[in-house]
Amino acid sequence: MKPRAWLPAAAALLLAACSPAGAPPADADYHRAESMRPDDAALAERWERSCRLCHTTRGPAPLAGHAPSWRPRLAQGPAVLLQRAREGFNTMPPRGLCADCSDEDLLRLIDFMSRPR
Ligand code: HEC
Repeated sequence: MKPRAWLPAAAALLLAACSPAGAPPADADYHRAESMRPDDAALAERWERSCRLCHTTRGPAPLAGHAPSWRPRLAQGPAVLLQRAREGFNTMPPRGLCADCSDEDLLRLIDFMSRPR
């Protein structure tokens, strides 16, 4: 082993431990998120053209179906999550780009993507 070859690994571990979202998603988590689809056809259609664009891809949005990404968000309670989904939050756009999503749709979509798979 080269001297100091362990440093990047140690740094990565430290970063992961400090991340507020917990363990970062692995490739398999992204693959699973990409294949997720609500059972309800109308909800699935909304999912496909809105939330899915950001919540199944690499970026700042909590990954669909990935428990560690959602744990600190869920801890805020459903009222905060709905309010932020409705009004937007940082780079999360208002209504998640789903102009015709009702509050009930938003709650169902949040429930769908925050449930661990
Ligand atoms: C254009 C990208 C984008 C789309 C589309 C999108 N989101 Fe998000 N969403 C984000 C990002 C980025 C965050 C993280 C914001 C932050 O924590 O700074 C986020 C965070 C959230 C959160 C967590 C808020 C919190 O309080 O922690 C919820 C709930 C959410 N999105 C719901 C939805 C729903 C429901 C949809 C579809 C109707 C949707 N999002 C569509 C980008 C998106």
